[in-house]
Amino acid sequence: EHVVPPEAAALLARARRVVVVTGAGISAESGVPTFRDALTGLWQRFDAQALATPQAFEDDPDLVWGWYEWRRSTVRRARPNAGHTAVAAIEARLPGTVLVTQNVDDLHERAGSRDPVHLHGSLLAPRCSGCSRPAPLPDVADEPAEGRRVPPPRCAGCAARVRPGVVWFGEALPQAALDRAVEAAASCDLLVTVGTSGLVYPAAEIPRVAARLGATVIQVNPDETPLDAVAEVNLRGPAARVLPALVAAAWGDTMPA
Ligand code: APR
Repeated sequence: EHVVPPEAAALLARARRVVVVTGAGISAESGVPTFRDALTGLWQRFDAQALATPQAFEDDPDLVWGWYEWRRSTVRRARPNAGHTAVAAIEARLPGTVLVTQNVDDLHERAGSRDPVHLHGSLLAPRCSGCSRPAPLPDVADEPAEGRRVPPPRCAGCAARVRPGVVWFGEALPQAALDRAVEAAASCDLLVTVGTSGLVYPAAEIPRVAARLGATVIQVNPDETPLDAVAEVNLRGPAARVLPALVAAAWGDTMPA
């Protein structure tokens, strides 16, 4: 059982408005590769620029679609971990809690989080690259093997290629998601940032907005990050151990199921 410092438990116990910000680290213990880990194996000959930009999709749509469908298949086979479940427990205990995630997987939803703010979109929300109409998810049967090119489906409305519903480098974040995240950060009294390196903006700005406007920040990460500068408490450990311990220490072992 991970021991959390009493001041962290006290901060959560007396919090009224909580924001939780998560990054790839919370899904690491579910076996979902972080963005950078997903560029290993048969994909290691590519870098992010070759797979996660509008230009990459234009140049080689089958390669890019194949990579994202492979990533989606790894998410489908993964299970939410105790970190995701602890976040859902915080939401259950404090209904005004807003969850902001940079992750494009659906592990938060599968752990019981009702309405995460997906700052970088979702693997489960493909859309038409032409008219932006939402597209159906391909059948599980068509899941690609690692490294396979897969031609993207065509839009039922305008016949343009379907693209992954994620934010690529060089693209703007969905404005509604960003507005919701900033508004929540500006009006919370506690922000818990979990498993993000705090390197990619504007997502990395969210904990800083909260701190600037008087909220207390708790960081959960085995490693140091630039967010150490705004965190009042740094819980150095894996989310699947630290978050359940934090929730138990704050509210007793009665974790809502
Ligand atoms: N528990 C908590 N944190 C962990 C764990 C764990 N078990 N394992 C690793 N981490 C931490 C790492 O120390 C690192 O700080 O998770 C962080 C993962 O950092 P990144 O891989 O950079 O993921 P993230 O911060 O979400 O990246 C932001 O950049 O990669 C692009 O668009 C992509 O949304 C992504 C964005």
